Amino acid sequence: MNDQKQMQKIHWEANDYDESMSFVSRFGDDLIGLLNPQVGERIVDFGCGTGDLAAQIAVKGAQVLGIDISPEMVERAREKYPGLTFECADGMNWNVDQKYDAVFSNAALHWMKDAEAAIASMTGGLKPGGRLVAEFGGYLNVADIIYAVKETLTVFGRENMFVMPWYFPTIGEYTLLLEKAGMEVRSAILFDRPTRLEGGDHGMRDWLEMFGTAMFPQVDQAEAATWIEEAVERLKPKQYDQGVWTADYRRIRIHAVIPKTNKT
Ligand code: BEZ
Repeated sequence: MNDQKQMQKIHWEANDYDESMSFVSRFGDDLIGLLNPQVGERIVDFGCGTGDLAAQIAVKGAQVLGIDISPEMVERAREKYPGLTFECADGMNWNVDQKYDAVFSNAALHWMKDAEAAIASMTGGLKPGGRLVAEFGGYLNVADIIYAVKETLTVFGRENMFVMPWYFPTIGEYTLLLEKAGMEVRSAILFDRPTRLEGGDHGMRDWLEMFGTAMFPQVDQAEAATWIEEAVERLKPKQYDQGVWTADYRRIRIHAVIPKTNKT
C-alpha cells in the first residue's frame, strides 16, 4: 500500500454516521436524478456508505452493487438492506470481470487520494457507453474548517501532526484525469453548498469527531478532544448562528461516459 492509499479512512462508527450525518445521503437524492437509473441496468454505488442511495437506485429497478472500503459501513448496509448486495472493496484497487452500465458515487471520491487509481477502477468496471455520475468535495471544500484546524495545531505547537486526508480537485484537474483515462466528459460543475450540520450546538464538534480527526490521525483521544474544542471556538464567528452550524462545502459534480467506439 502506498502512502496516498493509507490516507483513506477505513474504520467508521456506522451507527453514528447514520444518526448525525444523514444529510450526506439526502444531498445524493438529486444526483440520482442525473444518474437516471433504468430498469435492469447494472449499477455500482462506489463508496456506498451505509447503503441508502444504493437502495434508492434499486427502487428504480436497477441491479445495484454497493462497494465501500469500510467493513463497518458494509455491515450496516447489509443489515439495513438485506435484499441488496454490498461488498467491502478499496475503490483505488477494484477489479471486476463483469462490466457495469454506470458507476455512481456520492461524497466518497474525495477520500480516495490516488485519483488516477480510483478513476482506473471506475473506468475498468464500465461497459463501452457506460457512464460515471459522481459528486464529491471540490477545490477549497471545507477550507475554513481546514484552516481552523491548522491554526489550532499551530497554537499547540503541533503543526507537524497535520495530514491532508482528502483530495479536492478543480474541474480542470479532474476532467483532465478522466480524459486521460479515455472518458468523455459531458458535464462538470463546481459549486458552493454551505451545509447545515445536524446536532444543533454540537454540530461542528460532531462533524470534527466523525471526519475532522482524519486531519490528525496520530494523536490520542484526549489531545484530539482538546484540539476539536479549540477549532470549534475558532470556527464559531463565521460558521455558527443561533444554534445552527454550517460547513463550507463545495461540490464538484461530474457526468462522463466511456465512448462506445473510438472515432478518432
Ligand atoms: C464532504 O463531503 O465534503 C466531506 C466529508 C467529510 C470530510 C471532508 C469532506
